[in-house]
Amino acid sequence: MDFIEFITQRHSIPPKYLVAPAPSPDELHIIINSAESAPDHGSLKPWRFLVITRDQRQALSDLFVRALLHREPHTEPALQERERERALRPPMLIAAIARITPNHPKTPEIEQLLTAATATEHLMLGANYLGYGTVWLTGSRIYDRFVMDGLGLGTDERLIGMVNIGTAAPDMPERKPNRRTVTVDYWAG
Ligand SMILES: Cc1cc2nc3c(=O)[nH]c(=O)nc-3n(C[C@H](O)[C@H](O)[C@H](O)COP(=O)(O)O)c2cc1C
Repeated sequence: MDFIEFITQRHSIPPKYLVAPAPSPDELHIIINSAESAPDHGSLKPWRFLVITRDQRQALSDLFVRALLHREPHTEPALQERERERALRPPMLIAAIARITPNHPKTPEIEQLLTAATATEHLMLGANYLGYGTVWLTGSRIYDRFVMDGLGLGTDERLIGMVNIGTAAPDMPERKPNRRTVTVDYWAG
């Protein structure tokens, strides 16, 4: 597959269709290294990836549920279980973190966030290239300082997503193409 075909056909895999195997440690190294070439104004490298290993998933699910009950104390048990699943289910889970240098003279915070997001997409493309499925997920838990503190993020760090990685399940339904027809606009001045 050539590169244009590869990125044009890229799509996410819904979390319920991500199954084992996950990338090996060597593959994980390649995947995280894929982020290093993200365009980066001022070379601040304003991102960090935190791999949540299998051993820590129970702790993450506890953290998600504690945070949920902190936000919404009367959440019913079934929804608490769904919250747990988000931490327990994915074969591999990587927290994507933006590391913001406040008041940087050259690189405004918005650019640092954009670079962290681009690095995250690079990481996902690296995983896709190795044959793995990915999906970038957020939701209230991701923007919750309680969760960020629990993960050990510093005050200038922001969680920007949980990248779920695994192998696309064989029973994953065929995806309908969901792309817009490309139009090229030229500014008329
Ligand atoms: C910053 C960001 C946050 C996202 N958060 C969620 C989310 O919480 N839940 C969700 O279903 N999709 C979320 N998505 C969208 C999916 O990752 C995915 O892109 C979307 O389902 C469209 O599928 P596609 O990537 O195959 O086009 C998010 C995407 C981005 C870029």
